[in-house]
Amino acid sequence: MNSQKIMNEFEEYILTYFNDFQDSKLKEAMLYALMGAGKRFRPRLIFSAVKDPYKAFPCALALELVHNYSLVHDDLPAMDDDDYRRGKLATHKKYGEALAILVGDALLTESFKVLALNYQGDTLKKLVDLLSSYAGAKGMVYGQYLDLENEGKSDISLDLLNEIDHYKTACLFIAALKMAMVLNHDEANADLYQALGEKIGILFQIQDDLFDIIRSEEETGKPQKSDLKKGKVTALRFKSVKEVESELAHEFAKTFDLIERFDFDTTELRELLEILKRR
Ligand code: IPE
Ligand code: IPE
Ligand code: MG
Ligand code: MG
Ligand code: MG
Repeated sequence: MNSQKIMNEFEEYILTYFNDFQDSKLKEAMLYALMGAGKRFRPRLIFSAVKDPYKAFPCALALELVHNYSLVHDDLPAMDDDDYRRGKLATHKKYGEALAILVGDALLTESFKVLALNYQGDTLKKLVDLLSSYAGAKGMVYGQYLDLENEGKSDISLDLLNEIDHYKTACLFIAALKMAMVLNHDEANADLYQALGEKIGILFQIQDDLFDIIRSEEETGKPQKSDLKKGKVTALRFKSVKEVESELAHEFAKTFDLIERFDFDTTELRELLEILKRR
């Protein structure tokens, strides 16, 4: 179901959403930030965990809007100060800092509108609650705060690393899976969706930390050793590349086991995790 066809249709769906926006540099910069070489991993995760991916398009778009806003702001000089993303200039490098800040503001604001336009009643209330909780100051934004607050510090612990990764990255993965849970009317299994979002999110960030060291800018589309330069709290502050790789293998195995506990057909979830493992 996570076929290329669905993903192509999802790209069209994103573009169509912006059809009636005023033609302006702002719109151009929003689309610059949103379209291109993003992996769309969070949308794929939602589509893998629901019966009908088309019904999940608005959820996936809302989450992708939040994710992309977070990246535009994450690259700003006041935050990670990175000039490249997805193999091209970061939004602030292409359009200037002021416009990049506005792009982030606008993408975030639209995310809730997308939900409002496409869902109703109790479902809408639950989705808005989920997205705001996991993206906001109790979720992803809190993680970004902890990440910046601890930059360059030496007295850091593994618990702090896990806390940062939980908030800044896993929270949006948990949101993806819990949105799927709401659409599946499967709240009885909330713990399972939560646990899987947590696991995949942490795995994802550990891989990202590893790639910062071992992959070139051509491969990641982002500046190499950016974390190292800024003294970020990453997995590589505690373990060697080899140790991190074996931790990842071990955690992926545990995550495949966790997927088996869902009572729907998990073929696509397993395939997606396989893609993540091999990326
Ligand atoms: C980058 O996310 C930020 C992290 C949480 C590591 P992605 O690796 O999903 O970025 P894109 O959307 O594919 O560019
Ligand atoms: C970003 O983590 C998490 C976000 C919420 C954006 P990173 O700062 O490691 O992401 P990259 O490496 O810039 O994509
Ligand atoms: Mg960052
Ligand atoms: Mg960054
Ligand atoms: Mg990174």
